[in-house]
Amino acid sequence: MLARVRDRLPARWRPTAKALAPADFRPAARAALPAFLWNYLEGAAGERQSFEANRAALAGIELRPRVLRGLSEVDTSIELLGRRWTLPIALAPVGAAGMFARRGEAQAARAARRVGVPFTLSTVGVCTTAEVSEAVAGEPFWFQLYVIRDRVARRTVLEEARRCGCDTLVFTVDMPVPGRRYDDLYPGGLADGARSAGLRRTLQAVTKPHWAVNVGLLGRPHTLGNVAPFLRDGETGLRDFFRWMAENFDPGIDWSVLDEIRDQWRGNLVVKGILDPEDAARAARAGVDGLVVSNHGGRQIEGAPGTAAGLPGIVAAVRPTHPDVAILVDGGVRSGTDVMRMVALGADAVLVGRPWVYALAAEGQGGVERWFDLIGRELATQMVLAGVDSIAGIDSGTLARA
Ligand code: GLV
Repeated sequence: MLARVRDRLPARWRPTAKALAPADFRPAARAALPAFLWNYLEGAAGERQSFEANRAALAGIELRPRVLRGLSEVDTSIELLGRRWTLPIALAPVGAAGMFARRGEAQAARAARRVGVPFTLSTVGVCTTAEVSEAVAGEPFWFQLYVIRDRVARRTVLEEARRCGCDTLVFTVDMPVPGRRYDDLYPGGLADGARSAGLRRTLQAVTKPHWAVNVGLLGRPHTLGNVAPFLRDGETGLRDFFRWMAENFDPGIDWSVLDEIRDQWRGNLVVKGILDPEDAARAARAGVDGLVVSNHGGRQIEGAPGTAAGLPGIVAAVRPTHPDVAILVDGGVRSGTDVMRMVALGADAVLVGRPWVYALAAEGQGGVERWFDLIGRELATQMVLAGVDSIAGIDSGTLARA
């Protein structure tokens, strides 16, 4: 009956079972998730100005249409940090991704492996490094580390990442303290420490029965796997993890930490969270293998420029002297067009955070694979229409105003 009604609707009003555009996963994720998780995912600092700036900066970048270029095949693959990937897109670290789908990090890592793109496991993921490693049959993936005060914890998680075959460390440097994200602080929000918060979140969860069963019940344990060993006995609640994290942010850390990390990590070292050319040049001089131009999805410093606006200055500060340092960028990338814009501005590849979690929350591993299929098709189409047949061919000449 419902199907008959649906089929009578004009095509553009018909609810589709599957997403047709990369952006379709966002409303599906919103429908699937309890409010406290949706608010955490969407959350941004202050009045969301840095968040909005990311989208605005990208939207202002116009591409240059080219015609009759005799392109028979386009190749979207790239070489990055020692390996070949099918797309210039990597999965950014996202905390607690296992709250958005059952064992979410393992599902997303499997999707990334099937597609042939890098997956980054957050220090504060629900799945442990070992669980993700098992999910991808021991293939290398990327591991993210915060600037944390607890040296034993730092050394232990790095040793475990190495043991599990991670070949690239993404070291987040833009979070010496957490940004002011009000959505998480309101009653029932992820950072609400009141006793009543648990009850509020439970009430939110029961309004999403699919989530409540699949993730709430069957997706346990909901501990942050890599951090759990450093908590006191019996501490397994969200509040305990937030307390541990709050105690462990370290605004006292300076550039010397890169030497310490270098001593502890032999694989690729990528510094994430750089938005200033001077900092970028300093990181390059310190010998990093890559950097991620980022304002943390607008979740940290408020009032910063969009990353697409900051990227050219960083490319200019790093490329001439350190051509081998990989330059990645994130912030507002939602389409193949956005990927192309970032590459045209000088990035080697982009990271995406929220978009893969939307796809994961909506449709699990298959959703993430499908999101890649859709964004990959968009990128390939745009490449033909802009007259380039390889990622290396996308450069300042691809921009309407170089
Ligand atoms: C953590 O890095 C977050 O942005 O929530």
